[in-house]
Amino acid sequence: MTAALDIVPTGQACGATVRGVDLAAPLSAQTVAAIRAAWLEHHVLVFPDQPLSDDNLEAFTLHFGGFGDDPFIQPIDGRDHIIAVHRAADEEAPVFAEAWHTDWSFQEKPPAGTCLLSKIIPPSGGDTLYANQHAALDAMPADLRARLKNRMAIHSAGSAYGPDGVYGTADAHNERAMRIIYSPDADKTHLHPVIRNHPESGRPGLFGCAGYIKAIDGLEVEESWNLVVDLLAWQTREEFQYRHRWEQDMLVMWDNRSVLHMATSGYDGHERLLHRTTIAARDAA
Ligand code: SIN
Repeated sequence: MTAALDIVPTGQACGATVRGVDLAAPLSAQTVAAIRAAWLEHHVLVFPDQPLSDDNLEAFTLHFGGFGDDPFIQPIDGRDHIIAVHRAADEEAPVFAEAWHTDWSFQEKPPAGTCLLSKIIPPSGGDTLYANQHAALDAMPADLRARLKNRMAIHSAGSAYGPDGVYGTADAHNERAMRIIYSPDADKTHLHPVIRNHPESGRPGLFGCAGYIKAIDGLEVEESWNLVVDLLAWQTREEFQYRHRWEQDMLVMWDNRSVLHMATSGYDGHERLLHRTTIAARDAA
């Protein structure tokens, strides 16, 4: 017998809090199906009060697909698929991932989702923002939508993890708790449609944003960049956002195909530590 999940939408543009399930216990096929359905509907699921081990986090992730391929960040000791999103209390480096993105969109088959489990949370600051890319497309002005129609975006990790990226040579002097490894491999590119149907729900949405999107294929540099900037301004408007406030032992699972996300700062002097896995695309080999 499987207890029904208690699912309460955040009341913001996406996200729901899920109670009534112990994620450290074995999950029935029915429970996994109910979580997947809620994930596709709300795009960001928040599971409070889940003091999970790394084994539990891996087992939960594997209910929803294989592990994604996580480049440029060395995993935690003893694990191949868990990275630590970590900032020490005395760290002065810019906060990791404080810019809108969807995880690893520069890959040929970017991860379907990400699981982030809180271990140490500062007393204030360090929220994670999400932006619902179905809502952003639904409400998009016709002229911007016409400019984006049938366009492919060129995605690359170079501006972040390339030698000239924000985590490249210029960041080398920063003491970071995070194990970031920059590489010339980051400059490789992959194309993805800007407007596309969600591979599971079929719902149209926007995919990716400035940062990993470095240009729009087939446009001159200035027109391309203007379009990327106009897209970013629209797709991250406050009305499409959910602001997630962390508590200790929370698992958040989001759908990279439906939302953008970004870290926020505001907790200097306090440690923040979360363990992260990614869920591979459903058709990833
Ligand atoms: C991430 O982008 O995975 C990190 C988000 C966060 O630290 O809030």
